[in-house]
Amino acid sequence: MLAVISRRSFLAAGLASGLPSLVPSAAFGEPFTLGVACGDPDPGGFVLWTRLAPMPLAVDGLGGMPEAPVPVHWQVTTDPAGKDVVRRGVGEAVRDWAHSVHVEVTGLLPGREYWYRFKAGPYLSPIGRALTAPAPGSVPRSLRIAVCSCANYQHGYFTAYARMAQERPDLVLNLGDYIYEQGSDHLLTLGGNVRDHEGAEAVTLADYRRRHALYKTDPDLQAAHAAAPWVAVMDDHEVVNNWTNLIPAERRGAAFRAYYEHMPLRPSARPGGPAIQLYRRLHWGNLAALHVLDTRQYRDAHQCAPGYSSCPLPADPSRSMLGLDQEQWLLDGLRRFGARWELIGQQVFFGQRDRDPGLDRVVRQDAWDGYTAARLRLSEGWIEAGVRNAVVLTGDVHAHWAGNLVLDYDDPDSRPIGAEFAVTSISSGGDGHDIDPATDPLLAGNPHLRLHLRRRGYLMIQITPSTLTADFKIVPYVSTPGAPVVTAGTFALHDRIRGLIPVAGTTPSPRHPDSSAAELRRQS
Ligand SMILES: [Fe+2]
Repeated sequence: MLAVISRRSFLAAGLASGLPSLVPSAAFGEPFTLGVACGDPDPGGFVLWTRLAPMPLAVDGLGGMPEAPVPVHWQVTTDPAGKDVVRRGVGEAVRDWAHSVHVEVTGLLPGREYWYRFKAGPYLSPIGRALTAPAPGSVPRSLRIAVCSCANYQHGYFTAYARMAQERPDLVLNLGDYIYEQGSDHLLTLGGNVRDHEGAEAVTLADYRRRHALYKTDPDLQAAHAAAPWVAVMDDHEVVNNWTNLIPAERRGAAFRAYYEHMPLRPSARPGGPAIQLYRRLHWGNLAALHVLDTRQYRDAHQCAPGYSSCPLPADPSRSMLGLDQEQWLLDGLRRFGARWELIGQQVFFGQRDRDPGLDRVVRQDAWDGYTAARLRLSEGWIEAGVRNAVVLTGDVHAHWAGNLVLDYDDPDSRPIGAEFAVTSISSGGDGHDIDPATDPLLAGNPHLRLHLRRRGYLMIQITPSTLTADFKIVPYVSTPGAPVVTAGTFALHDRIRGLIPVAGTTPSPRHPDSSAAELRRQS
């Protein structure tokens, strides 16, 4: 857990360590209402984020800040008490960027844990935990990544974020739908909404800023950011449901800007109008490379309506999910670095999910199933690149899935070429329900798929040089706060061995035995 220190001792520690007490001429109230965050670690540092917003839901989206720029002091320490300062500096929060701060910290030691905080006027921020990536060329013993996506504020409490924070992962990979753009009147059909978006559908920059600020006031989300560095990428609801480039540039630009302003992204991601650079690569020594993709911004438009359908048009080989530049960038990266585990973090379902039990193919056109030629190009590309272990990490679908990836999904004997783990939602869809894997038509009709859970939660991935283990974590409810977490299924991959291996013997939390989870585990 994060160290709990009173505000008074924070201040004392800050002054003792030489953090200057600089009160800007224009006064404002407690500005650290949105928490703090760290992102995109490399061997020498990371980016630190905060945004000053004494009135987070101010109608103009500017958080109740004065117009003048405000100096924001930051420091990085080796201890959670904030005493052993190893880096410090001052950034400037300006109104143009909604008084957000993105500090790139450099010159730190690789593979270390650090702590950070900010100071603006007389106010000290909460403390956050940061990590630097291991040294290039090293083979670290382990990497623990929590994967999450799809946190609809109206649909439920963010308990899964809190449980994720308690596990103190090395990294959090957020695969999008970090906010939802919909208005207060957008209802969840089952049971109704448990919280309120406090506004109409986000369209303008002020709308998107207010929506991000509302989400960031959630204490469970703040805890998840303070616990570990994040690697975040957007999906569709940061802009609008199932968007493609047909959405007006002005709206995309507003959504991109607000996303940058609220995320621990490096300034290289700072958007220029309707464009934001989000695809990027992180390295964890030679143990793992994380290729983070953007499957929204550069894709060709849907060939058929984005939901499940049988698209009568033949797969057009010229259509792309990633755009040709990003596709080339990914294949180059898979060839060049030779990490033991190549993790591809992206938004939409990669393997086939055919709903039709017969010969027709009823698939989701918004997913890679709607871009089959691009999927085959990429799959063959990583085989040709000699990738040692390919693992695709996916968001978007509001359900946990584990599946083998193959070249020919119509051939039941097609051998695995990699694996996909799709993470369920933090809260989107509400409590969810248990399904019977024995009678689930998607599992029955798609033999490469091995696990399907429709509860809320996150994915915890533990990587060592020899093994990757994926724990599917679920919370039994999100309609009220405070749910426990249980591991509802575990799959392993062994180095250079293709194909998912179910791991028996994961035990639910003894305080809250969940028989349905145990049942699913037996059958998985
Ligand atoms: Fe979603």
